[in-house]
Amino acid sequence: MFKWHKLYNLVIILVLLGTFVLVPHVVCAPSDTSDTETYQDFSIYPGLQLQTNTKTSEFYTLSVSHPYTEVTELNHHINEWIEYELGSFLTDVEASKGILEVSKNRAHLNISVDTNKLADDLYALEIRSAQSVGEENRLTRIKPLILDLKQKKILEITDVVKQEDEIIEPVKKAVIKDLHNNPKINDHINDDKIEEIMSQPENWNWAINSKSLLIYFDQYEVIDASAIKVEIPIYQFIKYLNKDVVERIDVEKEPEIFPMGVYPEREPLNPNGKYVALTFDDGPSPEVTPRILNILSEHNASATFFMLGGQVAYYPDLVKKVQEAGHEIGNHSMNHPDLSRLNDTDIKNEIQKTNDTIAKIVGYELRLFRPPYGAMNDNVKKITKELNSSIILWTVDSLDWKSLNAKKVNEEIMSHVHPNGIVLMHDIHPSTADALPQLLDSLEDQGYEMVTVSQILEQSKNKN
Ligand code: NI
Repeated sequence: MFKWHKLYNLVIILVLLGTFVLVPHVVCAPSDTSDTETYQDFSIYPGLQLQTNTKTSEFYTLSVSHPYTEVTELNHHINEWIEYELGSFLTDVEASKGILEVSKNRAHLNISVDTNKLADDLYALEIRSAQSVGEENRLTRIKPLILDLKQKKILEITDVVKQEDEIIEPVKKAVIKDLHNNPKINDHINDDKIEEIMSQPENWNWAINSKSLLIYFDQYEVIDASAIKVEIPIYQFIKYLNKDVVERIDVEKEPEIFPMGVYPEREPLNPNGKYVALTFDDGPSPEVTPRILNILSEHNASATFFMLGGQVAYYPDLVKKVQEAGHEIGNHSMNHPDLSRLNDTDIKNEIQKTNDTIAKIVGYELRLFRPPYGAMNDNVKKITKELNSSIILWTVDSLDWKSLNAKKVNEEIMSHVHPNGIVLMHDIHPSTADALPQLLDSLEDQGYEMVTVSQILEQSKNKN
């Protein structure tokens, strides 16, 4: 049954403030009668009710939305916060009566609630208090509370994480990074204060949902302008969370944007070795790419795949397979246009979008770009450089697209191949996959080892 014992404290505060006449209106409690069952039938949040009280008086207006449950201990937490906000507002009003009288601006308090159902009997409440007393004096505070109606408790951070001390640093870092990424507030952040607050998880104003971990700061706490809510994708912290919490609120395990890792570096090649880089363009293709991966793997050979973003969007699992097999991945644009005929914006889009699409899958930014048809101009070169990529062409053309014949592909390559060469092929023609077993045998017979483009570049650089 709903209990409002805490209200008596508030009544006392208000009486002391000389505002007792408002009390019945301001905090009029839901009647403690047998009607409780009826309330629950109407709320779309089983076990949770809301009552909004509004008040207009000579010096102020207020609207207080007050969530409540059947659990006394839970209501206690909610009441405590709302009472504090109400009390401090009324104190301010009392102290500012003179100003309010002159300015004819009534003070205003607005306490609102955002309710988010996380699971059955588990709700995240975001209670916001916005008050203005006098002009330009708007104060906002946010209280996040996670109500567990089943366990009849407010979730503490220790209920959610395995080891409190393990999560401090990663969350702190993520919060600081997020705040500084906001150009509007970047210059106004009190980093010491963040450091201080975030070092003590019991001081966190936090919430969680299936997508995010949320950290709240009141106005004036870390920046002056307003209260802030920092939303950090939750997948980054899954390893720190209790398993039952992860399951109960069905935490999103896949990142929306992959966290960027470092480009996979390889051991430098033997300066006296004989190497060649096989490259495959225009894929990934579901018919040919897996065949090529199998053949390369049988020969323990590495290669480089210059992928089209458009194909990647359809076959992301193939990108993963190429990555897992240890090959290098390069950018071959989204849609294979002749970039020398595009304007700067379109050139940039073609390259950047492909990089982003692939980076989300492999977890690192690409470094290699091969312009379709090898077509480029100064703009293409400039933009590629701005995007931190190197333009990679080829030194041996298999003409596999022309011959569509395994034997001819092999003849073409073997008659032109040279140490540190870069061989152009396409993993969209079955004939190219047909050519590969013989090609690898022939190259091995001549003492070649098949490596990636980056390895060849590094090798050439060291030789010069
Ligand atoms: Ni191409």
